[in-house]
This record gives sequence, structure tokens and C-alpha cells, in this order.
Amino acid sequence: MDIEWFEELDSTSSYCRRLVEKGEALPPWIVAARHQTAGRGRGANSWWSPEGCLMFSALVDSKTYAQSAANIPQAALAIGVALAEELSQWIPADEVQLKWPNDVYLRGRKVAGILVEGISPVALPAGYKATGLWWIVGVGLNLAIDWERAPTDVRQRATCLATESGTTFASEDFLPRLWSTMDRVLTKWGTDPTEIMGLFRNHCILTGKLIEVEQGRERYQGVCQGIDDLGQLILATEVGSRAISSGSIRQLEA
Ligand code: BTN
Repeated sequence: MDIEWFEELDSTSSYCRRLVEKGEALPPWIVAARHQTAGRGRGANSWWSPEGCLMFSALVDSKTYAQSAANIPQAALAIGVALAEELSQWIPADEVQLKWPNDVYLRGRKVAGILVEGISPVALPAGYKATGLWWIVGVGLNLAIDWERAPTDVRQRATCLATESGTTFASEDFLPRLWSTMDRVLTKWGTDPTEIMGLFRNHCILTGKLIEVEQGRERYQGVCQGIDDLGQLILATEVGSRAISSGSIRQLEA
């Protein structure tokens, strides 16, 4: 996998998208930045993007891994499993947590966010055969953050690998090994999605917790029962069990 590093970009995912739209990027390819000026999170959220946060976007052809190109939500879960596996080398596995659908936590504090977006390869170089939908897999992973410079809300709810493990990793060293784990987990997910969803379940921070799911204008409250083999969140509500395929989560009790 080719990795291209930039000192500063607005957003690795936005940059990747612009290049695909101009026909100037082909999968597999990774773009990484030491600093982002307009890092994007899920929905309308922004992503605080200082040095010490490993930030990259991988452009992949969904055909390489997927049973179906539309499986973006499950792909994001598989990426979470890969991050959990990699982080479990430095932190005890039961303290590495996944918050459905796309957040990674260490000991109850957010350490990484995942943003998977689809893009159709509109402009292709001559001779390149179009296959499936492409994915831009954006990851922000706090490796070694200077907390004194962090906004208060980030300081209150985030952490980094150096804070939790006592070891500082350079982004350039961490990225190739992380990508190789992601590639392996995505490949496994393509052939055995049930196993990967089972691994997600092992790390699921929400299981047994009272939560509220916001899905467009709808809100559902209930106790999280974990995730099913399709990657849906199972919620026990007052009117029965409900499988949630997308939405944002608010935890109502610790
Ligand atoms: C989230 O937690 O809401 C997802 C955050 C994803 C942030 C990463 S940083 C690299 C890539 N470029 C972006 O602008 N966003 C993703």
C-alpha cells in the first residue's frame, strides 16, 4: 500500500475525495497528515486534529474485501475490530472498548474515531477497469497528545495511547502496522463476517447499558443487548427488542 504523508491538509478524507473526483487517485492508496485544519468527524462533527494524532484516509476498492459494496456500516465495525486488536498489544484487551458504531475507547475514554465514506470512481485513467464502489476509510487515532493544548471538552472525554500505555509511538511507524492489521481483518470480514462481528461483541462498551439511540427524528431508549451477526445494535425497549442499523448513541447511565 502506498502511503503519502503531508505536513498539513484540510482533511485527509476531503483531499482523497477531491483527487478521486479529478481521476488522480487509485486504490489502494493512503494519504496521511501530521495536522489537519478542517478534520471531519461523523455527521456535522469536526475532528480536533493536532500533531500526535495519527490521521489518515485509505482509498480502497470495496470489491477487494466486501460481500457487498453497500456494507459501509459493517466495514466501519471491522475497522474498529482491527484498531482494538492493534491497541490490545499495548493495553489489556478488556480495557480496549468499541462504542457502536465507530468509536474506539481506552478505559472509558475515546482514543479513536472512524469515518467510512463511499465514492463512485467517476473519472478513471485510460485502461483502468472500474469494479465496485470505492471507500474512503478515515481514521483518527490519538497516539501522543499534548493535553495542555486540547480544548476542554476533548480533555474531559478523550485519551491517547501514550497516556494509557506510557509508550510514545511515532505516526510514521504506527501507520504501516496498523494498516496491515486492518487489511487482514477486512479480508477475514469478507469471508467470515460472523467471526468479526463476534470480535466486536467482545469489546462492546454499550452492552448492558441504558442508552438512547437517535435516528433522524426518532429516539429510542433501552438496554443494549450487544450487536447481532449483521452488526446491528440490539436494544431491549419497553415494547420489545429492536435492531438498530444506524444512529448516534447517548449513554444514559455509567
Ligand atoms: C468520528 O469520531 O466522528 C470520526 C473521526 C474521523 C477522523 C479522521 S482523521 C483522518 C480522516 N480525515 C478526516 O477529516 N476525518 C478522518
